[in-house]
Amino acid sequence: MLPFPRQNSECSSNCAGPAFRRTLPVIITFMDKERLINPDVQAGDDRVDYTLRPKLLDEITGQDQIRENLAILLSAAKLRKEPLDHILFYGPPGLGKTTLAHVMANEMNVSIKVTAGPAIERAGDLAAILSNLHEGDILFIDEIHRLNRAIEEILYPAMEDSVLDIMVGKGPSARSIRLKLPRFTVIGATTRLSLVSAPLRARFGAVYRLDYYDQGSMEKIIMIAATKMNVYADREGVREIAVRSRGTPRIGLRLLRRVRDFAQVRADGKIDFDVACEALQLLDIDVAGLDDIDRRVLYTIIEKYNGGPVGLSTIAASISEETDTIMEVVEPYLLQLGFIERTPQGRSATQKAYEHLGIQYLRDDPPANQPVQGNLF
Ligand SMILES: Nc1ncnc2c1ncn2[C@@H]1O[C@H](COP(=O)(O)OP(=O)(O)OP(=O)(O)O)[C@@H](O)[C@H]1O
Ligand SMILES: [Mg+2]
Repeated sequence: MLPFPRQNSECSSNCAGPAFRRTLPVIITFMDKERLINPDVQAGDDRVDYTLRPKLLDEITGQDQIRENLAILLSAAKLRKEPLDHILFYGPPGLGKTTLAHVMANEMNVSIKVTAGPAIERAGDLAAILSNLHEGDILFIDEIHRLNRAIEEILYPAMEDSVLDIMVGKGPSARSIRLKLPRFTVIGATTRLSLVSAPLRARFGAVYRLDYYDQGSMEKIIMIAATKMNVYADREGVREIAVRSRGTPRIGLRLLRRVRDFAQVRADGKIDFDVACEALQLLDIDVAGLDDIDRRVLYTIIEKYNGGPVGLSTIAASISEETDTIMEVVEPYLLQLGFIERTPQGRSATQKAYEHLGIQYLRDDPPANQPVQGNLF
């Protein structure tokens, strides 16, 4: 028998089952060391994503300017009784691009077909998707920067003139035929705007950049999620989870789930400040939302390279991590916190980073970086 505590009346008939399911993710986390603060989708996110995802614009927290602009787009399209203009959302993972695409479909009361750049390999794939659309439908293309150029060429006239040009036959007898399509809306999403070709970008009437959420918005998102999940969490507990969520709803919701597991297994199921701190410390996420990899990056810059400057690939090699992970996940957050600076020679640690790690900042006299008292958790 597994040593899980019998503490919840709801599981009296089959106690080991539900308790085991609630506890399992914690165990997996410790065994796999999957990065909890990785903003990309991980196992378990999808299941809760669906129930927690806001359905209407009013339910979206934060991103005020984008929300206002989208509200105008929606009203204008409804007034004119036309499909929405094509929209491109870009920004770091986990900030709500997919969520907003679904919200727009709900608000317009139209169907949304979901696909992704790498899934459309051949012209025929796109032709099949486009010819199944109805008037006003939304075609959501995730990772749109990964569409190949030949596919983009077919998408341009479809987006601009609602027509589908397809080649029939081969060699000298090949000819192009043009099919009329219903008017539809493309919503594209990407984490890498620079990889979206200029002609494709130009086809979008509205382009919005999603940014990291502020502390207040993160607290609200986590509080709403806790309520929907029937978890009791007080303000201080929620605040602590929000502080360590890197301004990213997906991470905040994931941390909330892990802290809830901890609260149910080790406390009375309630999330307060102490429970949140203890759980997050056990998960190795410090008060600034940094995990082991982030801190190793900082320690490497400070201790191995005297505070920098040092190149990203050198840092990655020093700690045996992928350069892409350092570039796409670690660096943006450390820059945002003001813990590192980007210079033409490489990355340097700032005084703030030294203070966070409890290392004395003696850049004018480099070798004497002595550890001083610090409390990361
Ligand atoms: N403004 C918001 N308010 C409440 N919840 C949000 C908000 N934005 C995102 N979320 C939640 O965060 C999670 C991640 O959002 P989403 O999947 O839309 O991110 P994304 O930007 O599409 O990420 P990716 O780039 O990895 O595809 C979802 O569970 C969603 O419910
Ligand atoms: Mg997405």
